[in-house]
Amino acid sequence: MKFIHITDIHLVLPGQRLWGFDPLARLDACLADIATHHADAAFCAITGDLTERGEPDAYAALKKRLERFPIETHLMLGNHDDRTAYLHVFGDASASGHVQKAIARDGSTFLFLDTLKGPPSSAGLYDAPRSAWLMSELEKAAGTPVYLFMHHPPFDIGHDLMDLIKLDDAENFAGLLEGHNIRHIFFGHAHRTISGQWRGIAFSALPGLSHQLPLVSGSVETVYSDEPPMYAAVLLANGMTIVHSDAFMHRSPALMHKDAERGDWY
Ligand SMILES: [Fe+2]
Repeated sequence: MKFIHITDIHLVLPGQRLWGFDPLARLDACLADIATHHADAAFCAITGDLTERGEPDAYAALKKRLERFPIETHLMLGNHDDRTAYLHVFGDASASGHVQKAIARDGSTFLFLDTLKGPPSSAGLYDAPRSAWLMSELEKAAGTPVYLFMHHPPFDIGHDLMDLIKLDDAENFAGLLEGHNIRHIFFGHAHRTISGQWRGIAFSALPGLSHQLPLVSGSVETVYSDEPPMYAAVLLANGMTIVHSDAFMHRSPALMHKDAERGDWY
């Protein structure tokens, strides 16, 4: 099966720009590219920072786009989101009032987690009510493959700024996962392409659809940078997870004849 990972879309009010970028135009371009090239995807997951400032009209703009987007899409909250405003527009809270859900596809379980802590902190939180939900869902999965989606990474990623605002109490979160068949964690927050392994669990993250975070602070004179936005097309088959990151806005023909290099790949 295939699914799509998108993150950190940081929508502002329609017509407004953020750090020189137009997040809504980038979202439109992203969704159009996915609908054109990945219409066979089982679902899309957007791992938080849906908006920059949690404005209801920004969530309404997102809802309007998704209503005409042909692929089912699962949303998570990030530190820039406002849970009350989100629920006012989307209204899909779990029993504890958080934005968490589980879906089952092809014998696997996909869990979408709410790690929003709230102002003034930009870090993440996974408290007792949320943990109880996760433990329940992991028990229900009964050893079948589980894929986690969340905004905040529950570990340091080796970035001087991001490591200040990762998930609080990461050791406790790690304990919740022990003994379960967690195959991969897809996270956002970092505004960078990252992949690796944590406690034997594979993970990956993506650039946002808006601004990015330079790998080395100070390599540009601003905190954020202008680097290509990406989404990921994730393939699950035969026990493998393959994550393709696609810089969809920077895809254009190479300087070559359109028939050159065809038919001789073997
Ligand atoms: Fe973000």
